[in-house]
Amino acid sequence: MKWCSFLLVCALAWSSSAWAQEKPIVIRFSHVVAPDTPKGKAAVRFKELAERATNGRVRVQVYPNSELYRDREELEALQLGAVEMIAPSLSKFGPLGVREFEVFDLPFMFPDARALHRVTDGPIGRDMLRRLRLKGVVGLAFWDNGFKCFSANRPLRMPADLSGLRMRIQPSRVLDAQMRALGAQPMTMRFGEVYAALEAGVVDGTENPPSNFFTQDMQDVQSHFTVSNHGYLGYAVIVNRKFWEGLPSDIRGALEDAMRDATAYAASIAQEENDRALEAIRASGKTRIHVLTETERVAWKQALAAVSVEMENLIGAQLIADIRRVVDAP
Ligand code: LMR
Repeated sequence: MKWCSFLLVCALAWSSSAWAQEKPIVIRFSHVVAPDTPKGKAAVRFKELAERATNGRVRVQVYPNSELYRDREELEALQLGAVEMIAPSLSKFGPLGVREFEVFDLPFMFPDARALHRVTDGPIGRDMLRRLRLKGVVGLAFWDNGFKCFSANRPLRMPADLSGLRMRIQPSRVLDAQMRALGAQPMTMRFGEVYAALEAGVVDGTENPPSNFFTQDMQDVQSHFTVSNHGYLGYAVIVNRKFWEGLPSDIRGALEDAMRDATAYAASIAQEENDRALEAIRASGKTRIHVLTETERVAWKQALAAVSVEMENLIGAQLIADIRRVVDAP
């Protein structure tokens, strides 16, 4: 009898350890945008690469469109370990206590994606990701979306056209200052609530790259869209630190490789996704598109020039100067 019990215990122990070995590591990847956007597509690409590279030992579950958590909640969920991976926009890191990420919100800071990449791919970008460790998260990569455009239910050609409008912003003090400099009233709101707020007239306008605008059907509720490219929208992909550091090192290495490839993919599709979305907005026939002329662009730049000076205390004058040096390098 004793012998039988011993065999039974051995069999159970063996099967539970075999099960434990086979049980995949699950990465829940939550985000707030549509699957058909640069971030949505890069998340799926990461899933494919990660699962292939680890022979299925890792399973990545992607939850788009705020299905699981909304803007602020996803940061809290990550810190609590309720999700393993998120990719908030760089404008949403203030609540984590790293306001310097708002440097990416400064109007007309980056002339194009190449200048931007010199910052994110270089020592400044690496140092910024490193600082996140103190907040219980690990920064893995910067992902691109693109340059933002203004929209409203009136033509927006000159800065004064925004005057008096209630403009939805992300939770960034720099974006708040930007809207105030234009005489608009900034209203912070979660991404998933913007369409309804525009429809109900709670806000009059917004700013986002074309891909985010089109995939949220904002062309149904905004009659004018100005290609102003006045600011950058990108993301930092972050993971829960305890989860990441607890992974077997071969798995972590494979995931780092998958992330590197997914990041290159995101950078390679961002511009074309936004170009395609802009054409789709035009083709909808519901929203008039205006591309700023050079004279208009100069006027917007002048109207927003004081924002970076005003924000020096928040972001750090040194960081702003360091980024300017990299951006302006020949
Ligand atoms: C927004 O809230 O407007 C965007 O940051 C959403 C996103 O993640 O692209």
